[in-house]
Amino acid sequence: MKPSPISARPEDAFAKDVRAGLTAQPKSLPPKYFYDTLGSQLFEAICALPEYYLTRSETEILQRHAPEIVAHFPDPLSLVELGSGSAVKTRYLLDALLAKQKSLLYQPIDISESILRQSARQLSLDYPQLLVRGQVGDYTKGLGQIERQHNEALLVLFLGSNIGNYNPDEARQLLTALRQSLRPGDALLLGADLKKSAEVLTAAYDDALGVTAAFNLNLLNRINREFEADFDLKHFAHRAHYNADDGRVEMHLVSQKAQRVFLRRLNLSINFDAGETIHTENSWKFDLAQLQMLATETGFAVRQTWFDQAAFFSCNLWQVASS
Ligand code: AVI
Repeated sequence: MKPSPISARPEDAFAKDVRAGLTAQPKSLPPKYFYDTLGSQLFEAICALPEYYLTRSETEILQRHAPEIVAHFPDPLSLVELGSGSAVKTRYLLDALLAKQKSLLYQPIDISESILRQSARQLSLDYPQLLVRGQVGDYTKGLGQIERQHNEALLVLFLGSNIGNYNPDEARQLLTALRQSLRPGDALLLGADLKKSAEVLTAAYDDALGVTAAFNLNLLNRINREFEADFDLKHFAHRAHYNADDGRVEMHLVSQKAQRVFLRRLNLSINFDAGETIHTENSWKFDLAQLQMLATETGFAVRQTWFDQAAFFSCNLWQVASS
């Protein structure tokens, strides 16, 4: 029997986004596709880099203030985490909560199945009082499935400045959807990176070891693998810079020469000029006035904000505002 042509299959979301992004002008790809198994491991390595202060600053805040954060809530409380990753920082909150209550329901949602499985297994071993119910997928879909055990309040963690990878409209939509799936008494703990010097910001996204470059370029590896494409990674370079006008660090992949790339499974040829870029990520940075406005616009009231000693990063406790 003659095999049906591959291109006749309906395209999945990744295929559609790659086709749309690479045929657009300027070219772009959504950052959520960084996180295949290797990409997730590279991101964990980024978090350990000397230049990538975000993880250390947020860890400092949670290490110092977790008991104060959870003291805002009556017992019992359940935790939900959007983009939980390795959930290393979450442990400070788990420790603080389990010092107040006997058991705890923890519902992590992450796009990477491998990281989610690994962290859920490890947490269940380390915390026998913890009931872990993980969900693989997009936060927006996961929010509809959040459970409560005994009608208790929920604290939703959205750490790591993951909110900064959404453009302002998408961030508002996501937080509004989150607000709508919550009820009075529930709250959000939002980790948000703050505006600071271009030098510090650029170094955080262009480290000396080249781990962030590998993380960025791995997106082309993933496209090569999943779409039988022939991106030659030697002919693309990582570039990161702080766009102060828009308040965001931008990451790009820069074509080092004029070249043509073929994605066999999409039956798609893409031409690149020398110096042309694929815009792969924005990482928005905030000031306190912007965070206050974002809370108000999406139906939350700012309860308290904590900073690390360098005031590089913020953890913001937002309560569901009474409507
Ligand atoms: C996951 N996210 C918050 C990271 C960030 O800082 O925007 C992703 C990242 N990109 C490059 N380095 C880290």
